Formats: sequence, structure tokens, C-alpha cells
Amino acid sequence: MTILHLRRARTSLVLDARGPGLPRVVHWGGDVGDLDDDGLRHLTDATVPPVVPSSFDEPTVLSVLPEASAGWSGRPGLAGHRDGAGWSTAFRLDGLDVDQPADGPARVTVRASDPAAGLTVTIEITLDPYGLLTVRHRLRNDGDSAYELRELTPVLPVPAVATELLDLTGRWCRERSPQRHPWQHGAWVREGRHGRTGHDATLLLVAGTTGFGFGHGEVWAVHTAWSGDHVTFAERRPTGESTLGGGELPAPGEVRLDPGESYETPLLYAVWSDTGLDGLSDVLHTHLRARPGHPRSPRPVTLNVWEAVYFDHDLDRLRALADRAAQIGVERFVLDDGWFRGRRDDTAGLGDWYVDEGVWPDGLQPLIDHVTGQGLQFGLWVEPEMVNPDSDVFRAHPDWVLAVPGRLPPAWRHQQVLDLGRPEAYDYVLERLDTLLTDHPGIRYLKWDQNRDLTEAGHHGRPGVHGQTLAVYRLFDELRNRHPGVEIESCSSGGARVDLAILARTDRVWASDCNDALERLSIQRWTGLLLPPELIGTHVGPERSHTTNRVHDLGFRAATALFGHHGIEWDIASISAAEQTELAAWVALHKRLRPLLHAGRVVRVDHPDPAVWAHGVVDHDNTRAVYAVARLATSVTQLPGAVRLPGLDPGRRYRVRQVSGVPAPASIDLSPPTWLAAGLTLSGAALARVGVQLPALHPEQSLVLEVDAVD
Ligand code: DGJ
Repeated sequence: MTILHLRRARTSLVLDARGPGLPRVVHWGGDVGDLDDDGLRHLTDATVPPVVPSSFDEPTVLSVLPEASAGWSGRPGLAGHRDGAGWSTAFRLDGLDVDQPADGPARVTVRASDPAAGLTVTIEITLDPYGLLTVRHRLRNDGDSAYELRELTPVLPVPAVATELLDLTGRWCRERSPQRHPWQHGAWVREGRHGRTGHDATLLLVAGTTGFGFGHGEVWAVHTAWSGDHVTFAERRPTGESTLGGGELPAPGEVRLDPGESYETPLLYAVWSDTGLDGLSDVLHTHLRARPGHPRSPRPVTLNVWEAVYFDHDLDRLRALADRAAQIGVERFVLDDGWFRGRRDDTAGLGDWYVDEGVWPDGLQPLIDHVTGQGLQFGLWVEPEMVNPDSDVFRAHPDWVLAVPGRLPPAWRHQQVLDLGRPEAYDYVLERLDTLLTDHPGIRYLKWDQNRDLTEAGHHGRPGVHGQTLAVYRLFDELRNRHPGVEIESCSSGGARVDLAILARTDRVWASDCNDALERLSIQRWTGLLLPPELIGTHVGPERSHTTNRVHDLGFRAATALFGHHGIEWDIASISAAEQTELAAWVALHKRLRPLLHAGRVVRVDHPDPAVWAHGVVDHDNTRAVYAVARLATSVTQLPGAVRLPGLDPGRRYRVRQVSGVPAPASIDLSPPTWLAAGLTLSGAALARVGVQLPALHPEQSLVLEVDAVD
């Protein structure tokens, strides 16, 4: 056994695996250079704390699975018991596999056991080529009686220089709202008991040095990749240790391991940066883009008809929408909720996945043919995990829902959750979706919705969220296997299922049901902390937002929707000719910029005026960039100062100009900055350190700038 040093990109992980106990993370953070054995030993020694008064006689060192037997009195890495026994462990190291290829991810697998407790644990630690760390524990019951697992969470240490915490919360139509506070003693615990990821789930929990921002500060962050009940936490002990961790949150009795059975934690993703939050996103985005299954074809500009027609499905009206969409440059047409049997509103029909014969007497094929005939791809909405009590499937199988015996969970949008842990329910849904796709090869995209929490979600009398989550993953995987060409969107009452486990089986997320461009700026900014723009659906909504009643001009709506997987959710058949022309220009602009937007590095500007937001995307060889500057509200200061444009090569010169092809936003100054008319040429260093003065925009307006290297 040894001290291991994993080094990838600019990140180091030093692991003291000399035993006899579980390995300890000596360092997770910036690269510590090429250390020989002596160097690693000295680094390890340097991080062992002294013994202090009124404490254990030996220093307490924190392992990746903290145990009381090693002197840990914070949140336990493992909580569980065997009918009152085996509740405390002292794992001993049995073996270590290390795989450190010259390129590719570095991997360590640690095997440890506690024969007295009858448990074996396997810990997998991977540092990918971009500096992204993942940790996963697997626990096996080697005893001869059942072991009830309450919690098993990987934990990573963070140094004391991290003094502030940032995480995200939210609700329907206000997903991923940041909250920030000093990191004090105690545990900041973000628990999600929604049975799904949740509108309030923190995509990342970030700890950082005082005042960290998008472009500065040292930051450590974790993400718990699980779509059921889960916990992500930051803990600071009065004894001096600080940790980040996360895992599943099983209900009492939910994870019971019979002899020989194992439990595997979700992956805990961990990422470090010394260039602020943008540095975190950079590592995460690069990791996601390198996945073999990452969508690589140009992301089709999408028309989703939900806010255009809601449940009012009429073939002629939908055809007219498709015609208009084609004229505007749309590439994918998605028929939303309302096409299946009995679904005239949201009170009935879920579960009856047959085309409604009354509304669609000739089936969906005439619409599919019309849409594809216009050169657009066809997509369809489904909500496979749900059932309305007012449906044929529920009437025939009232026992197919997740519930405790004798009562149904409180209704939510008039619906209940199908118990996909029951093979017959699972098979039914799989057969319906499979048949739908087989019978309609024109369906190339599913908008997979999930519109309620799992409440009192019992499966045969026991808690069922864990099993349901795994069954849902199986359903996605099986369907993808049978229909590999069909893309899937993860939607969940807007953005309530955004996590890296669901994204392992889907091609984008619907970030929110709120298409109000002002709200969306924030939702997209913070969703983008984890996800690159091509995975985030961003649609141009109607002039008056359906969810906030705010009115925005088209330029602001379109400039906001530009920076994602672009689309439209608006009754474009009823818009004016001028709106149609302008919308088509924005769609064309998106298509022109798409290769940059969907592959480049995302930067967000730390501007001192909270009413001015700027963000951009810079391509990887620093030759091109696009930035948007948005005014969110009025400011006390008349002019907010020059806006810096970071992320470019400091030594190259760039031409900066207002983006062409779309109308300029209205501004309130008598004469805009002189440079704007003809553009200007400045070095990347000057753009990042000085920036440019911009027109005094009206509140809720955006200006888009295009930047090209000139040498
Ligand atoms: C919730 C989704 O978030 C919406 O986009 C829409 O698909 C509705 N469900 C349909 O019921």
C-alpha cells in the first residue's frame, strides 16, 4: 500500500492508502507538481493535524468514508445496522488497484472490509483527463443476516481557505436560484425528498475563497448524480475539518441488503478551479462534451407547440404552425401534451398511450408526414411514469401506482405515479413507447416529462423511490437501446429533473417552464454552471410571458434564447409579418453562431452593477467569441462603466462589433458610444482588463457582440 498521486489537467488528488484503515484524501485541488515518494510522504505528514487538549490521543484523519472508529464525529460516511448490530465499522484495507494510463482517466479502486460488521466496501475514485473527479462506494453485505442501510455518502475534504458556500435552490418557474453565505460551523445540508431531482436541487454545491466570482477565486464543488431522493452537504467542524459530500437519501427500510447483496452509491462528481466558477464549468462542460453519447449533430432549432395550442389539438392549426415554422427556419417540431386517448385537459388520460381516435381520426401520421414533408424533424411529448386515475390503465390496474396500502398519495396535477418496480407495469409502459416509436418511425425525438413529486411512494408496502429511480433509468436505457436514433429531452414540470444521471440517458434538459426572458437569464446562467449550452433548451416565448405576465420585445427574448439549444414556444401562426421576419433573422443568427455556441468555453462577467449581466462563449482556439450584455433593471448610477469581455487570448487582437443581421436594441442615450457604429479592434488583454463602454440600454434589453481575431 502506498501514497498515490493522481494528476490530470491542473488538478491533483493525493491519497494516503498505506492503511491499515481506509484511505484518506491528503489533497484535492490544484496541481502540486511532480512529487517523488519522499515528497508525497512529506506532503502527507504536513497535513496530519496535531493532538489538541480534550481530544483523542491520536490525530483524527478523515477518510473518504469517515468512521467514528477513526475518531470522526461529523456526519458519518456510512449509517446502517444489522438489527442493532454492525452499526459502527472499522474497515481495514484489503487491496488497491491503480490504473494510471499516460492519457485517459486515472483510476483507483480500494477494497476494504470489516469482518466483525460483516461488510465489504469498494471505493472507486476516477480523475478524468480534464480534472473532473468522481467517487463512488459499493457496499456488500457479507454477513448472514440482513443489513439495513440508512446512508452511504462519499466525502471529500476542502481546505480552510474556503470560507463561503454557494448553492442553488428554486421552485417551478424559478429553478436554480443562487444562495450564498459564509461557511460556518455545522452542516449545510441540502436534502431532496421529492422522489425526483427537484426544482430546488442544487446542481453544484460550491465552497470557495472569500469573494469568489465567475472569473476569480479558488473553488471546490460537488454534484450528486441521482434523480431520486438525495443529499448534498458541506460540513465544517469546530475541530477544523471541512468537507463536501453527497449521496442518496433512502427512506427507513428502503435499502435492506440481504446476505450477499450490494448497494452502490450514485456518482459524486467533484471539481476544483482557481479561476472561479467559470473554471468549474469549463471542466464539467469539457467532461460532458467528451462523453461518447454526447449529442454531436447540430442541435435542431425547435418549435414546441405547448404555449401555442396547449391541449387544443387541431390538425389544420398544427399544420399551419409547421408551415410557419419551416418559413422561419425551424428544424424540429414537437407535439406536446394532449395527443393521447382521453387527454382533453390535464385531468385525464395519462397512462393511455394510444393516439386519441376522436382528435386524431387518421392518427398522428398525417401531421408527421406534413411536418417531415416541410423538412422538419418530428418530436412527441410523453410522460411515461405517470397515470391519471381517470384513465383506462388505472381503471384496469388500480394497484399499479406507488402508494402505501389502503390510500393513494395526495393527487398532484390530478395524477399518480406508476410503480415501475412492478414488472407488469414496467412492461406495459415499455411496450407502449416501443410500439409508438416502431409504428411511427417519423418520431425522432421524445420530450419525456415527469410532472409530480413521488409522495408516500410505496412499492409492495415498502419505500419505493430507490427502486423506481432505477426502473426509470432502465426504461430510458431499454428504449434508447431499441431506438438508438431517437433523441430524448428530460423535462420535469420544467426543470425538476436536471442531474448527470438523467443526462447520461438524455440529450438535453428543459430548464424551466418559464419562458420570460428576464427570469430565463438567471435560470440559464445557473443551469449553465453544470451544463454546456447545447444541453439546455432555450425557447423564444410570446411577447407577454404566460407564466409571469411580463412583456418583452422580441430582441430581448431572442438574445436570451440564443445561448442554448435554441427554439420557439409561441403561436407563430398568429404573429405579424414584421415579427416573422425578425424571428427568422434570430434563427438564422443562431444557426450561424451555433458551432461556436455549442462547442466553446462559457464565460460570465463579474460586473459590479448587479443590473448589468454579461456572458459569452469563446471558441477553443481563441479566434471567435460572442457576448451578450443584458440590462436587467435600472441602476442608480447612470452609466454602469465599461463591460469587460474576458476569456480571449490576451496577446491577440480582436475586432468587436455589434452582431449583424438582427435589429439593434432600443437604447436611451442620445448617441451611442462612438466605437459602436464601426466596431473596434483591441487586444484580448485590453478587452478583459478595460472592457468597452456600451449604449445605455433600456431595462430588459440585450446587446449581442461578435468578436473575431484579426491576427
Ligand atoms: C410540463 C412541461 O414542463 C411543459 O413544457 C409541458 O410539456 C407540460 N408539462 C405539458 O403538460
